[in-house]
Amino acid sequence: MNEVVSVQALESKTDFIPYESYISPAFAKGEKERLWPAVWLVAAREEEFSEPGKFVTFDIADESILLTRDTTGQIRAFFNVCPHRGRRITKGCGLAAKFYCNYHGWQWNLDGTNKVMIDSGDWTGISPADVALRPVRVDTWGGFVFVNIDGQAEPLLDYLHPWPEMWENYRIQDMRYRWFKTTKLNCNWKVALEAFLEGYHAQTTHRQVNPACGSNRWECQTFGRHSMFYDANPASWGGANPNQPFIPGLGAEAFDGVGRLERIYRYMKTVSGDLHCLFTDRMVEATRRLPERVSDDADDMAVMMAFITLHYEICARDGVDVSQLSPQDLGALGVDWNMFPNLAILPTLDGLLIYRARPDGDDPDKCFFDIFPLERFAPGMAPKVTREFYEDWHDGNYPRIFVQDFENVDEVQRGMKSIAYRGALSNPRAEKVVWNLHRELREMVLGE
Ligand code: FES
Ligand SMILES: [Fe+2]
Repeated sequence: MNEVVSVQALESKTDFIPYESYISPAFAKGEKERLWPAVWLVAAREEEFSEPGKFVTFDIADESILLTRDTTGQIRAFFNVCPHRGRRITKGCGLAAKFYCNYHGWQWNLDGTNKVMIDSGDWTGISPADVALRPVRVDTWGGFVFVNIDGQAEPLLDYLHPWPEMWENYRIQDMRYRWFKTTKLNCNWKVALEAFLEGYHAQTTHRQVNPACGSNRWECQTFGRHSMFYDANPASWGGANPNQPFIPGLGAEAFDGVGRLERIYRYMKTVSGDLHCLFTDRMVEATRRLPERVSDDADDMAVMMAFITLHYEICARDGVDVSQLSPQDLGALGVDWNMFPNLAILPTLDGLLIYRARPDGDDPDKCFFDIFPLERFAPGMAPKVTREFYEDWHDGNYPRIFVQDFENVDEVQRGMKSIAYRGALSNPRAEKVVWNLHRELREMVLGE
């Protein structure tokens, strides 16, 4: 610490995040009015609309959006509310020939026009637009389907800058779901998301990585509303985390007396098994086969290059086309991005881990949390994925890393309600992505 400040003065520090942002109903109301309607939000993936009538609902705060593909092939989005007396029309996802309200039986075509209005002759002076589903602005990029609820946001590609340029060669549009799980959490949507927006917690929360994750040094880059972090020491893996003396690695004995290449392989097998995504089977194979290319005493960079070369070769062998993406372009994407406001996205060559947090109604203490990893599959090899939903994450059979993160978030929300807690002292280097999210958020919600 090279600077000493009093508790009062903390609040003027730029990396301080006031507690109200997480627990105040007034702040959640401000988000409902000035954040969620105004931004572009990922609502679904194009692959979910494989034929006309396939639909997905996307709920956020008190809004619900219904997305579908109409008979002309166009993806459309509507407010999921009946223009008659306001019933929510549908929920979940599925396949529909038309939409139907279960209260008084009005019906709509897939393009949102009204098809049936029971006893329509009883009304006078009502136009077709009054009884159609109200459209929501929709656009696509990277295979994602975005909505902008108030229709006033800048064009999607401008909003996303620098995603379209920096991620162009990554080609997210060629990836497909590996699995999709949603659960409810008893915490603010930001508490949930921020558990996945920094690497600083890994040495304690995911201490099984400590024996061989190397000396991670998390550095952040901000791009206006969006931001990312990367590991400035990526080639140091295989070595123990320097914090291991404070936080012994879980299962560290499995790494005792083992050579470096074998340590890297065991590390990769551990994290791959603890995530069931992102670190693909091909990455595990590439680390297992490192001894084919380098010896235990090779320098850090030689080991890293051997891994990258093997990973590309294994993808090519499996028919997974990654030829468009250079190691340099992939390296520039770092470890983890915040797509403002509510997504965390982590890339590897053939895996992409996506987290999304959404407030549940106007309660600052509740959210929905989605995890939907993508993968780059060989043609025809993508699995058929159905969305899973769990009221309680304990029932969701989540891999170990997510369980470890979920075990923190409810306790954070509880802790933040103490009168002793003034706000977050985010790490000015390693947690700048968290801070940047709040900087943009407070500007939109409070006009700061
Ligand atoms: S509320 Fe939908 S038809 Fe009456
Ligand atoms: Fe984590």
